[in-house]
Amino acid sequence: MSSRLEETFYQQDFVSVNQIQDRETVDELFESAYEMEERVAAREVGDVLAGHAIPIIFYQPSTRTALSFLYAAKRLGAYSEAMHDMTFSSAAKGESLPDSIRAIQNVTGASAIVLRHPDDASSQEAANYAEVPIINAGSGKREHPTQALLDLLTIHAKKQTFDNLKVALVGDLLYGRTVKSLALLLSRIGHNNQFYFASAPQLRFPEDFLATLPNGTRFTEMDNIHDALDADVLYMTRTQKEWFEQEGRLDEYEELKAKLVLTNDMAEMMPQDAIIMHPLPRQEELRYGVDKNPRAAYFDQMKYGLYLRMAILKAILVPGS
Ligand code: NCD
Repeated sequence: MSSRLEETFYQQDFVSVNQIQDRETVDELFESAYEMEERVAAREVGDVLAGHAIPIIFYQPSTRTALSFLYAAKRLGAYSEAMHDMTFSSAAKGESLPDSIRAIQNVTGASAIVLRHPDDASSQEAANYAEVPIINAGSGKREHPTQALLDLLTIHAKKQTFDNLKVALVGDLLYGRTVKSLALLLSRIGHNNQFYFASAPQLRFPEDFLATLPNGTRFTEMDNIHDALDADVLYMTRTQKEWFEQEGRLDEYEELKAKLVLTNDMAEMMPQDAIIMHPLPRQEELRYGVDKNPRAAYFDQMKYGLYLRMAILKAILVPGS
């Protein structure tokens, strides 16, 4: 039986959140993710991906994303290994991404490759050369599609909806990829949401990104968190030091890193049933005092990352998912 989930994902690359065109795909994916949650709770030994190899290749640091892909693959019975330290790889000898991707595919007998890389176009470039699906685990400053889905799943799990919400995206909107992917996904798949884009003026979403949001997306840009405290979902992000470093703007980083900070006193001013999210890792923008606040959802958010990535791997590799 063919489903929207199968049409969207089976044997397809997943490089951009824009590949998700309709709500039915998301509904079916989330149904599968909730099923995965039950399987994990039951400590079920999975085998739907038995025989498949899924190398996880990271050219940028990660704790959550790499490990959740690794355990998602293993929990479904695949062979999987995470290669984090690409300084020991042939990239250090000047090998191009297209050559590295074909090597990784062929030496592992991969069924799919999970890739994180600092270039915006990296996943698409890899997909142009690989014969197996490429799954984007974060590319440059633009895309982090599985994070956007796990964020949406978290919102769905906590709020039972992703419609009619006030959603505040806070922090480094210029360099952050999670906020861009989430804004695109939610504005297209959700109904009647209202966005607050809260950042220092220097860290606003780039104009060319805003132009890619669907017509009619309702958003207000602001330079502080206080005006966003009536939000149903407050999504904090870290100021992305590495990009400032790369662009020789470290002095500006020091000035901007703690401009928009959420304290527990501020969190207490939010609606009782609001949720606070963060893709993590955090720096100073999210005070540890918020962790015990009942609105804090960022530790659960990681759990949804595991379930969501299990569902994605299955949808890409198992027909009839
Ligand atoms: C994010 C990323 O890599 O874009 N981390 C993650 O995947 N959870 C956010 C970040 O690094 O700030």
